Amino acid sequence: MSRIAYVNGRYLPHRRASVHVEDRGYQFADGVYEVVAVRGGRLVDLPPHFDRLERSLGELAIEAPMSRQALGFILREVVRRNRVRDGIVYLQITRGVARRDHQFPAEAAAAVVVTARNAVPKVAQREAGVGVVSTPDIRWKRCDIKSISLLPNVLAKQNAVTAGVYEAWQIDADGFVTEGSATNAWIVSKDGEIITRQTDEAILSGVTRLAVMALARRDGITLVERPFSLDEAKAAKEAFLTSTTSNVMPVIEIDGSPVGNGHPGTVTRALCELYERFADGG
Ligand code: PDD
Repeated sequence: MSRIAYVNGRYLPHRRASVHVEDRGYQFADGVYEVVAVRGGRLVDLPPHFDRLERSLGELAIEAPMSRQALGFILREVVRRNRVRDGIVYLQITRGVARRDHQFPAEAAAAVVVTARNAVPKVAQREAGVGVVSTPDIRWKRCDIKSISLLPNVLAKQNAVTAGVYEAWQIDADGFVTEGSATNAWIVSKDGEIITRQTDEAILSGVTRLAVMALARRDGITLVERPFSLDEAKAAKEAFLTSTTSNVMPVIEIDGSPVGNGHPGTVTRALCELYERFADGG
């Protein structure tokens, strides 16, 4: 079955799906994106993705090209046409096509691309847990915007791949963990509190992060939003990461040293289970 992409109003086979050479996304990374999970053919937790998308667009003064309802229709249509049951749908909006000049063009219509694909659920990794490596956070000062400008994230993730682990945790100038290359970072204290960095301009406000916070509160788990250092993470009882494509993923090793007893911890496992149920729609 051939894959179908949505590009600026048309549903096209992948091999013919392309954007203009002067799309500002291509030339300046002048755009934003969202990744939404698909589970049993359904989009998981879509409204907060739209909230964040609208915020990202607003911060960059890109006018929303269409209503939420119209975008929602296109996302579902791309999922349907690609027969995605479990996987992701990717949405990218750029400032559009214009002659290459740095300043905003006087006239340009935002360009919209949507793709979708199936993905194998990461069940074995969730059971066993994964490793992370630390890497300096070399990004810009507006990581709260879900911009397509991802080169530092790409380099960070490649560091993880080179080290043979799942993710890289980025460390700021003060030695604190900001977040992963494409995930939020969490630890569990000796008292069983879950700790994750507060949302400011240094990290992306993850939709999975928000869902896990709500699930934890409902379950009576104490949640603290504050920075934690790499040393604190290495000494933590448990650690995990969250994202649309990883869900809740136990972290059992940081820079080659085991976290806690080197196995997914009880608080993390409980949150994994709560999140899987939530994503299943239960
Ligand atoms: N990444 N932090 C960063 C830098 C991210 O890129 C992501 C998401 C997250 C987690 O956000 P959420 O829970 O909303 O997925 C945190 C997506 C999945 C990606 O780039 O593929």
